[in-house]
Amino acid sequence: MRKIVILTGAGISAESGLGTFRDEGGLWARHRIEDVATPEGFARDPALVQGFYNARRMQAAKAAPNAAHHALARLEAEFAGAVVIVTQNVDGLHEAAGSRAVIHMHGTLAGALCADCGHRWDAPPEMSPAHACPACAMPAARPDVVWFGEMPYFMEEIWTHLEEADLFVSIGTSGNVYPAAAFAQHAMRAGADTLELNLEPSVNARDFAQARHGKASEIVPQWVQEILARA
Ligand code: APR
Repeated sequence: MRKIVILTGAGISAESGLGTFRDEGGLWARHRIEDVATPEGFARDPALVQGFYNARRMQAAKAAPNAAHHALARLEAEFAGAVVIVTQNVDGLHEAAGSRAVIHMHGTLAGALCADCGHRWDAPPEMSPAHACPACAMPAARPDVVWFGEMPYFMEEIWTHLEEADLFVSIGTSGNVYPAAAFAQHAMRAGADTLELNLEPSVNARDFAQARHGKASEIVPQWVQEILARA
């Protein structure tokens, strides 16, 4: 096996204390998506949106990677072939665990973006609508995260990774949001084996040839150990 492509979602960071979106009491049970995760919501009330992401940025800054993040970093370091992580998460826990090949398709809380000129810079812990863009000085700073209705980042590169994968693994995602929910089928059509590692079957569980259910901090290290023992 030469190349493993791994998709991760909020479930891999749940045991690091970061909330998921659609579980009981998740983020979308407490905030309306249209208010805090759309360009229209940001235009309507930038302070509300900045406040939502400031809270998540502070929480993420305090969180530590869990055994699942560390296991994926170990896989990348010790597996003879290539390991690429495509994450829907905006936290930095994969990098904090030591993973290097990490693609943030939904952006990151650590990034700031100017809605006017497109300039990007490192986000301060707290962002405010009054903050001027360091490049064009317009008060148009926003979190560099991908909102509903916007194009995820690095899609060309991601489709190519999926077409080159021998194994596609999905960890901690409910399979509700496209295009990530289409990755398993895309990889399988290109000949990859597919495995879902999740607390419970996702809505696209039928797209996977194999599945294991349980907490990421338990089933991901087990799976990594098996892969490295086989190699
Ligand atoms: N271990 C493994 N899986 C877990 C754990 C855990 N400890 N806890 C929860 N899960 C699983 C849940 O069963 C669920 O299937 O993680 C998944 C989380 O699903 P969502 O909350 O929908 O999060 P995600 O799939 O990452 O959402 C995708 O939606 O709102 C947008 O941009 C946002 O990136 C996000 C995207």
